[in-house]
Amino acid sequence: MKIHTLSGVVILTLTSTPIMASQELAEKNGCMGCHLMDRRTVGPSIKQIAERYAAQPDASATLYEKVKNGGGGPWHGTWGSIPMPPHGDNIQPDTMKTIVDWMLLQK
Ligand code: HEC
Repeated sequence: MKIHTLSGVVILTLTSTPIMASQELAEKNGCMGCHLMDRRTVGPSIKQIAERYAAQPDASATLYEKVKNGGGGPWHGTWGSIPMPPHGDNIQPDTMKTIVDWMLLQK
């Protein structure tokens, strides 16, 4: 029983740390300026994005390209006509991939 409880704590610690770090990356790189967690602002909320792409197996790669190159997408015109600016020049590929994958988990 003791061992069981202990391993539960270890797993919790391991899974929650990277998630916090990813949100921090999104904040640091300006994504949260246009994407709030659960309320749409300039762009769709992160939750809306995760839900929209939940059933799409190649979402990670597709959205990576979108964030890198910017531009309007399937949300365009829904509540505004501001396209997303390209981020490929100022964010490292690894960082960008981490943020996109994290967004896709926020259902
Ligand atoms: C200046 C505002 C702004 C910033 C900063 C911004 N976005 Fe966006 N983003 C948008 C808008 C607007 C859309 C909707 C585009 C459309 O479909 O017209 C969008 C759409 C998206 C989508 C969905 C794209 C699709 O094709 O469905 C993802 C994923 C995304 N953004 C991720 C990010 C990430 C990651 C960052 C930070 C590196 C970021 N955004 C920073 C405005 C922004």
